[in-house]
Amino acid sequence: MYTVVQADKAAILPDHIPFTDGAVLPFAIEAAVCGLCVQEPGPCMPGVMTPALIMRYPSNQNYSSMAADRVLIVNGASSSVGSMATQIATAAGINVIAISGAQNFELARKSGASQVFDRRDPTLIAKIVEAVQNTELGFVGIFDAISTPENYEQDLAILRNLGGGHLACTHPPPTEDVPSSVKTGMIFAVNDVVAPVFRGFVTPALQSGQLKCLPEPTVVGRGLEFVNEALKMSKAGVSATKLVVEL
Ligand SMILES: NC(=O)c1ccc[n+]([C@@H]2O[C@H](COP(=O)([O-])OP(=O)(O)OC[C@H]3O[C@@H](n4cnc5c(N)ncnc54)[C@H](OP(=O)(O)O)[C@@H]3O)[C@@H](O)[C@H]2O)c1
Repeated sequence: MYTVVQADKAAILPDHIPFTDGAVLPFAIEAAVCGLCVQEPGPCMPGVMTPALIMRYPSNQNYSSMAADRVLIVNGASSSVGSMATQIATAAGINVIAISGAQNFELARKSGASQVFDRRDPTLIAKIVEAVQNTELGFVGIFDAISTPENYEQDLAILRNLGGGHLACTHPPPTEDVPSSVKTGMIFAVNDVVAPVFRGFVTPALQSGQLKCLPEPTVVGRGLEFVNEALKMSKAGVSATKLVVEL
């Protein structure tokens, strides 16, 4: 089976990477880059604008040896979108401090996070605020890949303590008790802002191992008859994996 996509939204999958691994990448890349690299807010849905974190594009240059110049929190770093946002931001020279379930710290670190904190830790807010302050870097804000009301409470408490910043959400952002120093927005994951990333970054980054196919896929089965099963599993909720149906 073949799928037609715009050349600007495609990359070459190196021979050593199976398609079942590569399948975790495209939508997550689109969502992550739309959340990070948009330069000016645009309409997302009626009354809701997109975030504009104005981050530079990821680079194949190895930033790990260079000091990062800004710090970003990724909330939900074990999700598909959160893990990719961590990879893309790290490849753009940003220090990422991650929040995930305690069982998924290794995934957040593999994605490039410099530190990772347990989302259920009752002292999470104080720990995150301290971690950000200790970097002594300019604070960008929070990329919240999960965007539930509970996460928004955490996000806003952190942002209040850090004097404000961006809050990039995957769902409509909070509207109550949002300080004026916080710029909220909802990602709209279809945007040509992603084209330079597919054109210039993805293929060499996959070849070199800089870009990893994370979170690892769970192959539900082969054939369209497995789509319903995959949808049921997705509805029940997954942790640190991407459900893939082979065709
Ligand atoms: N706006 C857009 O354009 C756009 C684009 C793409 C996706 N999305 C949305 O973005 C969200 C993330 O998508 P995804 O595919 O990346 O998700 P996913 O991979 O299915 O997310 C799974 C992760 O969510 C975390 N999680 C589950 N329930 C949670 C909760 N109550 N609080 C905090 N974390 C929780 C789990 O973390 P732990 O197991 O580590 O605890 C798990 O690893 C979805 O709601 C999706 O619809 C929006």
